[in-house]
Amino acid sequence: MATILLIHGPNLNRLGARDALNYGSKTLADIEALVSAEAEKFGHNVKSFQSNHEGALIDYLQNESGNADGIIINPGALTHYSYSLLDALTDTGLPCVEVHLSDINSREEWRKISVTAPACIAQISGKKEDGYIEALKLLREHIAKEI
Ligand code: DQA
Repeated sequence: MATILLIHGPNLNRLGARDALNYGSKTLADIEALVSAEAEKFGHNVKSFQSNHEGALIDYLQNESGNADGIIINPGALTHYSYSLLDALTDTGLPCVEVHLSDINSREEWRKISVTAPACIAQISGKKEDGYIEALKLLREHIAKEI
């Protein structure tokens, strides 16, 4: 059984009330339940965490990565500028998939840049909540290869 950390950054606690065109209509609780249910089908366990604070996300990674096998992260806007989150993700040594609900490549110029993606085995963007299911599949396959 693998443990997957499902991590969300700033403003993603407001999913459901944010711009539905970009982010869809699911709440964060809906997404967390969706990912947990999908992981359970394969006997895996998901631990979810969201914070609006960069340092809290880094503390969580430092504290929890030792007991986990992979990470799915939507860093929100931190994606575009947080080198400390990049370092924290890299330091976990875990396979990580970056997910964005919206298509960050078809929006403002500044959203096209991800400074956190180099710490990840893949980036999935623009598939709304389905992106998380795809991320889980990629992680499952990656972890299965490692065992
Ligand atoms: C986002 C994209 C980011 O640019 C934005 O700041 C978010 C959400 C997404 O899921 O599409 O908060 O990560």
